[in-house]
Amino acid sequence: MSCASESHAYVIFGATGNLAMAKLLPALYQLHSLGHLAPDVRILGCGRTPYAQDSWRAEVEKHLQTADAAQLDSFLQRIDYLAGNLEDAAFYQALDAWMGSSVCGNNVIFYLSVSPEFYVPITIRLAQAGLLVERTGWRRMVIEKPFGHDQQSARDLQHELNTRLDEEQIYRIDHYVGKESVQNLLVLRFANMILEPLWNRHYIDHVQITHAETIGLDGRANYYDRHGGATRDMIQSHLLQVLALLAMEPPVSLEAESLRDEKVKVLRSIRPLGQPQLASHAVRAQYAGYQQEAGVAAGSHTETYAALKLYVDNWRWRDVPFYLRTGKRLKERRSMVAVRFREPPMQLFQGSGASAVHPNWLLIGIQPDDVVQMEISAKVPGQETRTRQISMDASVGNPGERKADAYEDLLMDVIQGDRSLFLRYDEVKAAWNVVDPVMRGWADDERPPLQYPVGSWGPKAADQIFGQADREWRQTLSCNDKPESKL
Ligand code: BG6
Repeated sequence: MSCASESHAYVIFGATGNLAMAKLLPALYQLHSLGHLAPDVRILGCGRTPYAQDSWRAEVEKHLQTADAAQLDSFLQRIDYLAGNLEDAAFYQALDAWMGSSVCGNNVIFYLSVSPEFYVPITIRLAQAGLLVERTGWRRMVIEKPFGHDQQSARDLQHELNTRLDEEQIYRIDHYVGKESVQNLLVLRFANMILEPLWNRHYIDHVQITHAETIGLDGRANYYDRHGGATRDMIQSHLLQVLALLAMEPPVSLEAESLRDEKVKVLRSIRPLGQPQLASHAVRAQYAGYQQEAGVAAGSHTETYAALKLYVDNWRWRDVPFYLRTGKRLKERRSMVAVRFREPPMQLFQGSGASAVHPNWLLIGIQPDDVVQMEISAKVPGQETRTRQISMDASVGNPGERKADAYEDLLMDVIQGDRSLFLRYDEVKAAWNVVDPVMRGWADDERPPLQYPVGSWGPKAADQIFGQADREWRQTLSCNDKPESKL
């Protein structure tokens, strides 16, 4: 990451919300303290809640964990607050005046960290006030997920944005893609020659992508229960992006368009799940007690757990299932990719009454452990030929190395005009094409979702998605619990 070369203003709509306080402002603080922000960069928080400038700075300070008083002080000098009704033209006049008075040049980033229903009204107002026009500097807009709640609403949103902004000005953010461990997928795949010959249907039995959380609604019942659910909230964006990075062909370069071209081909190759496949290829469930959470509609069918079995119908992956699952209030916070390889064509050591040799696994921890592990069979020392699974593991980071938060990288990319980690509209559209039929099928099903106990790994029925006795979810990165095999 190099020093920001241009001065600019970061205007955050929804600045008093959770995302801004917990992620955006701390990420900007980190960029500031690492010297990545040009000296005259200004940060403006916008929201409805009135704050005097000093009390706003005090509020922000509460969310920054730092012992460096000098850095903190210089950061707080950069920030201002503008209160108002985001749908009111007067607010945009005040914003225009702030932009004119600040010394940050004409480059402005508008970050929409607001509820999705405000994306269009804010864009319209910004356009009416002439604030999106690039006369002497650039104007960029960052849009948080969800980009629409289905393909049609995404198309409508795209239309509204496109009539007021050029595509180059739009940054559709998916913070998951900014995680170091997710970016590492590209490096693992394309900087290591040993994987490529094996990375296809001839050697890979199946792939599992898991994002398990222990948290519940986290104060977001309104959004989650009405517009989210595990499938829209996590699978449509984050998990399908991980799938695309795992399954894509090598891009021509790391330029934004090359990367996006390859990802979108994967997303377009995913076979949509028709109604007949839903029962065997998709599982939805709610954690016990969800219905009693504040803000959840009575009788809500919103799923807090979802698992899908998907196929990428292309030359490389035909017939290799990709299992995606995610859930809230599960047993552990763990995100990982587990790639199971096929078994050898012959069990050479068979005949000694032993069970089969275990298949190889490649495990990639996304969080909390940022590790890469390869599980292989090896001989247990001794006269008998016994095997056990051993794990060749490596932590990706070295002790003492700082791991940047996903938002730090992504906010810096916006400053630098690098859109490679942001989603192009056709990717979003293709992802909705995967999710829409599932959501429609579930909406037509009057039965309530299954239930799973808080603190479990989800509903038992999710195990049946494999349809094969020798396949099961990998819950852990550890292979120590695997029994030894006598050959
Ligand atoms: C967000 C979802 O995009 O990602 C949340 O809206 C989810 O529901 C979160 O909890 C998970 O991401 P992370 O990085 O916090 O694990």
